[in-house]
Amino acid sequence: MSLEASNRQVKRLTDYTSPDFTILTTKLTFELDTHQTRVTALTRFKRLNPAATELVLDGQQLNLISLHCNGQRVTEQDFKVSDDKLRLQVAEDEFLLQIVTEISPQDNTALEGLYFANGSYCTQCEAEGFRRITYYLDRPDVLAVFTTTIIADAEQLPYLLANGNQIESFINSDGKRQVIWHDPFPKPSYLFALVAGDFDQLSDSFTTVSGKSVSLVFYVEKGNGHRASFALESLKRAMRWDEQRFGLEYDLDIYMVVAVDFFNMGAMENKGLNVFNSKYVLANDETATDTDYFNIESIIGHEYFHNWTGNRVTCRDWFQLSLKEGLTVFRDQEFSRDMGSPTVNRIQAVQVIRTAQFAEDASPMAHPIRPEKVMEMNNFYTVTVYDKGAEVIRMLHTMLGEDGFQAGMRLYFQRHDGQAVTCDDFVQAMQDATETDLSHFRCWYQQSGTPELSMTRAYDASTRQLRVTLQQQTAATADQAKKVPLLLPIRYQLLSKKRTQASSVFMMTQARQELLFDQADADDLPVLLEDFSAPVKLRHDYHQDELLRIAREASNGFARWDALQAYWQLQLRLYIAGPDSFTLPAALLDLLGEWLQQPSDDLALTAELLKVPDYASFSETFAQIPVDDILTAISSFKQQISAALYTKLLTCYQQHHTDASSYTEVNASKRALKNQCLQYLSWHHEASRALLEAQYHSAVGMTDRLAVLKCTQQSLHPLFEPLMQQFEQQWQHDVLVLDKWFSLKASLPTKAVLDTMETLVQHPRFSWQNPNRVRAVFHAFAMQNAGQFHRMDGAGYQLLTETLIKLDGINAQVAARLVTPLLSWRRYEPRRQSLIKHALQMLAEQPSISDDLYEKVSKALESG
Ligand code: TRP
Ligand code: ZN
Repeated sequence: MSLEASNRQVKRLTDYTSPDFTILTTKLTFELDTHQTRVTALTRFKRLNPAATELVLDGQQLNLISLHCNGQRVTEQDFKVSDDKLRLQVAEDEFLLQIVTEISPQDNTALEGLYFANGSYCTQCEAEGFRRITYYLDRPDVLAVFTTTIIADAEQLPYLLANGNQIESFINSDGKRQVIWHDPFPKPSYLFALVAGDFDQLSDSFTTVSGKSVSLVFYVEKGNGHRASFALESLKRAMRWDEQRFGLEYDLDIYMVVAVDFFNMGAMENKGLNVFNSKYVLANDETATDTDYFNIESIIGHEYFHNWTGNRVTCRDWFQLSLKEGLTVFRDQEFSRDMGSPTVNRIQAVQVIRTAQFAEDASPMAHPIRPEKVMEMNNFYTVTVYDKGAEVIRMLHTMLGEDGFQAGMRLYFQRHDGQAVTCDDFVQAMQDATETDLSHFRCWYQQSGTPELSMTRAYDASTRQLRVTLQQQTAATADQAKKVPLLLPIRYQLLSKKRTQASSVFMMTQARQELLFDQADADDLPVLLEDFSAPVKLRHDYHQDELLRIAREASNGFARWDALQAYWQLQLRLYIAGPDSFTLPAALLDLLGEWLQQPSDDLALTAELLKVPDYASFSETFAQIPVDDILTAISSFKQQISAALYTKLLTCYQQHHTDASSYTEVNASKRALKNQCLQYLSWHHEASRALLEAQYHSAVGMTDRLAVLKCTQQSLHPLFEPLMQQFEQQWQHDVLVLDKWFSLKASLPTKAVLDTMETLVQHPRFSWQNPNRVRAVFHAFAMQNAGQFHRMDGAGYQLLTETLIKLDGINAQVAARLVTPLLSWRRYEPRRQSLIKHALQMLAEQPSISDDLYEKVSKALESG
């Protein structure tokens, strides 16, 4: 049955209508109980549309206890309750509703709405979770002032938190504690939050640029207070940075962050009370890698930046999600870049686009950054909306420059502070502030798919003119057949032996255009798309030696890395077409050797330049992915580098070894380079054994320890199993660290992993209810173990399918994220195609399949 034919509801952007009623104030009282939490909502409504007589509220899985309008009990015949709505006839223009409902936080394994896990109560309301708490106008364009009262046992739950400022706290006559919070900023329901539990607390304060003191308070699981200090320092850096770069100041007297182990996503920007996945808060050198630290700082920044881009100005409807997410990702990327290596930061962001986002464009779930049709909103928190959305903002920044962009931001806030607006409103502010015509640029919001930009060169020796012909074309996607040429800002530079020039930006607007270089030499090389100035696939006509020259000589660090990526793609094709004895060109090995002997000042960039692309990066460029060829090629390339450059790798390793454990840019980049060397060294099992053991046992921090495990896992080194046993022993009581072990176990590239998977889910620390545990095991298996997941006997697909069926009943949101690798079944060869298709059919036949999973599975099946 197709998506449209099923009786499941699909919402469309074009169906948007402004609300008939709005809400002025919302007073919520929670009497907390694990199975019967009583929620009393006292809500003042106002009619906006004079013709509207019926109030329709959203509500799901609620037990309605009573309903009063202006103090009068509403009787059964005056309202209607269905699965997800409450309908009520109302005559007054302004009225007060009192709704009492009961909910069971303990049974809430979806972790949406109010849930109880690990001894604490916690809410998650974005996107449409508030309707699981009470009947409400659960849409982002209804903004109200919230007052929240929490009543609970004072001993079991010493901390009772909600948005805004605490205005009262006392002990009731029955001995329970009652706390009242008030948030003066009108907000949509998705930004509501409540947390109740017992925590370690870490506090500090921040003085804003205008001299206001803000209390900063982190609440983390008992015994972990000391592991929150890096996140707290990151928060202060983010607050300062937003003042300096964007002129934006914090607006409440208190900023709270709660870290919980049961959480569906990374973190949530609830006004004044962020809730974080503990994995993005807790860190110390013994438990966290440099990557963990990096992620913590960037996500702390992301949620903080939402206070202006998301909370003060929010979305009119969920189709506009990229308004806040694309812009906030852009802001967090700029923050990270200003805190560390700009080039490596850019490389990492581009890898997300090239792997996950391009794959999404090529999948049955393809959608524009502003989607047009949605069944389950949770399915649209995607790399397209977030990361491609950020690329679209970045292109605006490239076109308008920092000053123009900031002028646009100021106008945006001036016009829309306190409002719920659209992506068009944002672009309009940019357009008006800079007097730039952005009408063509707006196509980026409605067109899905990845543009392909091709480049061909023609040099005329008599006129010394170099003519570069550019052509852009976007292939049809699953959601959209017709495509138009887009506005592409192309940053380029001519690499010349004789002259150095600054980069320029060429605004490509048509399907085919030319770039002319006068007075060019025959060996000049145009370097296109510096810093990945547009999210496109570049098809070039460079020869191997030209690519290596760009990798060696270009002034733009990103362009150097990018040329090398193109070079590797060529090597892979030569490997596949060539004989078993295929060897990497000496010119490449020489260049890698030079870099090992003389790394650039940016050691982290050198580490990136030394990497063989991973499976995801290689597979992106194939319409049909040759899974086994890619995997054997990667092993072969690594072994060849290991053998050819062993002594240089060893010297570089030794030179950059550091005993310092702390996370600083210098230490982290030394470790990145050194561990990149170690990865190659470990392919020589005997020679590297002592080195690996020494690093594992003397490691001062988790980065170095985990690096040894990764190296031994990938090179199938005999040390892997014994070290993993020690690691498990040592960290069995720390779930966050144990997640790293779970992932390493699940991504071991040998067939033994199938038996291992069975034992992992039996592990005392594994829990089907906890998304971090489930992801540590199954995301690693399905996304980082291509060889075993795509086994020709179908066992990998079968394992994931059985897992999804089980998980869908527990947490559909997590299940729907995990189904992704099955959706692109058409990108594999026929045998795998039929196995995956069979798996999808099994899922579709589940009688109680969730909307989350159904939306994706049905689209995937329709695609063939
Ligand atoms: N708005 C959050 C962010 O990007 C992400 C988010 C959306 C989320 N839906 C969620 C987080 C559900 C947790 C659960 O920062
Ligand atoms: Zn966000």
